[in-house]
Amino acid sequence: MSETSPDRKPRPEIVQRAREILARMTLDEKIGQLHQTPAYPDRMESLGALIKAGSVGSLILASSAFAGTEEQNVAELETLNAAQRIAVNESRLGVPLIFGRDVIHGHRTLFPIPLGQAASWDMALVEEAARIAAREAASRGIHWTFAPMLDIARDPRWGRVSEGAGEDPYLASRLAEAMVHGFQGRTPEELAGPERIVACAKHYVGYGAAIGGRDYDTTEITDNTLRNTYLPPFRAAVDAGVRTVMSGFHDLNGESASGSRYLLTEILRDELGFAGFVVSDWESVAQNVGMRIAADREEAAAISVLAGVDMDMTSGCYLDHLYDLVETGTVPESVLDEAVLRVLVVKLEAGLFENPYTDIDRSAKVLMHADHRKVARDLAARSVVLLKNTDVLPISDAVKKIAVIGPLAEAKAALRGSWSIDGDLSAIVDVASGIKAARPDAELLVESAQADLMVHYATSADVVVVVVGENPIRSGEANDVAEIVLPPGQEQLLEAIAMTGKPVIAVVIAGRPLAIPRVLDLAAAVLYAFHPGTEGGNAIADVISGRVNPSGKLPITMPRSTGQIPVYYNRKSTGRPYMLAVGGVGFPYRDIDAAPLFPFGYGLSYATFSYSGLRIACSDVGADGMVRVSATVANTGTRAGEEVVQCYIQDNVSALTRPVRELVAYERLKLAPGESRDVEFTLGAAELGYFGRDGKHVVESGAFTVWVGGSSDAELSASCVVGGCS
Ligand code: BGC
Repeated sequence: MSETSPDRKPRPEIVQRAREILARMTLDEKIGQLHQTPAYPDRMESLGALIKAGSVGSLILASSAFAGTEEQNVAELETLNAAQRIAVNESRLGVPLIFGRDVIHGHRTLFPIPLGQAASWDMALVEEAARIAAREAASRGIHWTFAPMLDIARDPRWGRVSEGAGEDPYLASRLAEAMVHGFQGRTPEELAGPERIVACAKHYVGYGAAIGGRDYDTTEITDNTLRNTYLPPFRAAVDAGVRTVMSGFHDLNGESASGSRYLLTEILRDELGFAGFVVSDWESVAQNVGMRIAADREEAAAISVLAGVDMDMTSGCYLDHLYDLVETGTVPESVLDEAVLRVLVVKLEAGLFENPYTDIDRSAKVLMHADHRKVARDLAARSVVLLKNTDVLPISDAVKKIAVIGPLAEAKAALRGSWSIDGDLSAIVDVASGIKAARPDAELLVESAQADLMVHYATSADVVVVVVGENPIRSGEANDVAEIVLPPGQEQLLEAIAMTGKPVIAVVIAGRPLAIPRVLDLAAAVLYAFHPGTEGGNAIADVISGRVNPSGKLPITMPRSTGQIPVYYNRKSTGRPYMLAVGGVGFPYRDIDAAPLFPFGYGLSYATFSYSGLRIACSDVGADGMVRVSATVANTGTRAGEEVVQCYIQDNVSALTRPVRELVAYERLKLAPGESRDVEFTLGAAELGYFGRDGKHVVESGAFTVWVGGSSDAELSASCVVGGCS
């Protein structure tokens, strides 16, 4: 746990206050605290009676589930404050409501989707973006966000791959910490203050493993993979002090994720030490019935509450049935007491008892502040991944006629990302406008609708920027695709443009890694931008014009074709390895190359970097023991640049099968042309060990191989032998 995190455990004086409130509650009032109900402009008035009776603990400011890109108005601040006034002044005990709303990659100012933020590998900036999102959201009366989304995803057909950090547990863990710190702050005082909001790690756990990449579908994950791959980001969020966790919609190994005592109590609380409260996903308590593990809503409520779901998001099963369940003895009242205590503690920690209302005037000063847009631009520029460049990028100042074409060349809404309910669409900077601002001296030929005009412009320009990709409506919740290809017609358009013989720079904007081998063939340069948000066009123009040297790296493997899925770098060693990155025999398929299109961690720069001098010093990996790895990285290019230096390990012989490689550390290094610097990584038990038999963390003695380089295909390696301990 970072020293500056709010303590994982609540302060004793807060728990004491919560206990005193709990002691005065009737059974009905307790149940009320565990009930979250939707609130939207038209419903606010009718909620008054419920709030006054103490029958609601939280309002979710949404009118339907999977709001995603839907524009859903939040109730006006006056209305929210009025609802709060009823809770505070008119309900018997005056317990304030906690208002929740999805703030996933920004509120009014939109940042890149989380997958893009992960591609920046810049966690200081990710934390800053979450801080800004919290600041803006808090100014609109939101106390609680349902983020970060920490689902490891190995199947990019799944639309929600856009909402998480990709395929790697280590990178996702760093993102988890950064976002939790950004939303909640790093101290109890910040959490209680008016600029932060409560975070929620979701969707606990394994939701990203839905079979076939089909949202809400079944997941089956061995305990070994659960602990080593899917749980680490949640562990990191808990260690960073996350106050709430959301249980998923899915079933995992035969149990409902919102009804598994094993997952929600034995692992989350007893092992990970989570002390906050668990909220279900939207109606996931009632969905125990759909899964046919409960005969009716009453049984569904019993299963979830006994498993450890404290608050029921919107299904109403708790409100309708907990009373009878307690009266009949099916659910001990002590179970409710624990759940209510946790909810009250978080409300106290969030400062809601001291400051239940939001200042009406604050949002005008806060929303879309120039400083916020600046961070959005920096983060978006850093999240752009340069996949190919045959010397056309950056566009030289000598080039005076630029065609900016393609279906997304002037698109604003297409840049916003899959969770942008509060984003200001009119403020989004499209790519053509960004390039226009970056190159006022150049003649721009812009067209995004008519293909024949696009070809005509390409013919008369010196260089052609073709902006293609998918609209956010094709990613996010319940938006999966069977083929991870560009939408219809876009490849043909690129073919036609390439026929002009002009140098083509393809900019692909998407919510997932798309299989784009043909784009690579046709374009002289390819930039990949995961939906980049408000400042997307400026950020892409910064990279195209060379104002920013690209440094983003793929947070997820880019497959060559849909049929290659699942293809992730940290696959296990097998008895008969395929000829993939780390050597072996045979090919997985007869009809395509063995390797993915681009490996995890890949991304080019306008500079070039070389790696040398890998050195390892080992000591016994006891409590203080560690392995020190160092290497020299040189900028061998002609421009200053930043490189994400990555460190991977392989535990050469282990009791249980382990990944061929796993990321254990990385550092962003800024290097002037010709400059070289040493990087050093220190690996301890956390990095070298794994969760072995019986779920215990072990570091096994023996040989380890270490790689340092610019992607998961890094070639520079060395070995060392470490002593074992647990
Ligand atoms: C989604 C969650 C989201 C919730 C509330 C659900 O449909 O799965 O990620 O936080 O709705 O909007």
